[in-house]
Amino acid sequence: MTPYVKPNIHGGDSVDFTDMQAVKMLNKALLLHQYGISHWDIPDGYVCPPIPARADYIHYMADILCRNNYGKIPTGSRIKCLDIGVGASCIYPIIGNQEYGWSFIGSDIDPVAIESANRIIGFNPTLQGKIECKVQINAKDYFYGIIRKDELTDLSICNPPFYASAREAEGGTGKQIDQNTDKNAEPILNVEGQNHELWCDGGEEKFVRNMVLQSKKFASNCFCFSTLVSKESNLKSIYHVLEQAEAFGVETIPMGQGNKVSRIVVWTFLTPEEQSKWKNIRWKVMK
Ligand SMILES: C[S@@+](CC[C@H](N)C(=O)[O-])C[C@H]1O[C@@H](n2cnc3c(N)ncnc32)[C@H](O)[C@@H]1O
Repeated sequence: MTPYVKPNIHGGDSVDFTDMQAVKMLNKALLLHQYGISHWDIPDGYVCPPIPARADYIHYMADILCRNNYGKIPTGSRIKCLDIGVGASCIYPIIGNQEYGWSFIGSDIDPVAIESANRIIGFNPTLQGKIECKVQINAKDYFYGIIRKDELTDLSICNPPFYASAREAEGGTGKQIDQNTDKNAEPILNVEGQNHELWCDGGEEKFVRNMVLQSKKFASNCFCFSTLVSKESNLKSIYHVLEQAEAFGVETIPMGQGNKVSRIVVWTFLTPEEQSKWKNIRWKVMK
């Protein structure tokens, strides 16, 4: 048996999901097999993303664009996606680019994460020129400092930090969170204290509320904004702020992988007429 596989409770063999190296090897294999990514790695201690869950978000967003494009998913590098908090793994841009040819801007407040994402892009010629990753120097900003006032992006996505403090995040350090008791949390695998990527002041609720408020300032820059919301109880206050911001077409898409339950919240500030104009100008050739 390989060092990354161990017997499971059903009497079969399974990848040892409590071992960060085992999950990394599984990701490397999936990224190579499914997306043709031959070089992928993340610095020790950074969260190793579950690929199917990340792919789900991208596919749901493709469905949203499809619904707005005469039933056809707009593809190719003309479609630009902003990934707020791209992380060391660069996972959403990899999947979105390889599945749909979309181009990406990835932002992160962590320079080590951006360095790692740029290293992945540098090692894979297929990603070069398609994904641009930038450091967000102000943790309170999401769009400012990353996209220009006259820049258009067709969608924005975000997997926000979940916890409200380092201490809360450290509750899971070194072990897999009990998915029966905490269906919202991302499993933390042997993260060796490196978990600031999982927390921010005020946690997911404050992060998303502030993002919604700031998105209004970029109302005409983006066809549709979106974010994951892991904690269902945060939805009420997020809907409230979306209403305050006078967002249109707010939609919540339930997602679930294994025991983890989550959802995508999507919004826009464009009127149906403005949306029509947008897709006819930017996506016209893809009808
Ligand atoms: C939960 S991780 C998501 C990483 C990756 N996208 C994934 O899904 O695996 C959240 C990321 O958001 C970053 N972050 C926190 N505040 C940010 C901000 N204001 N702008 C951009 N990124 C931010 C963190 O450094 C962290 O890498």
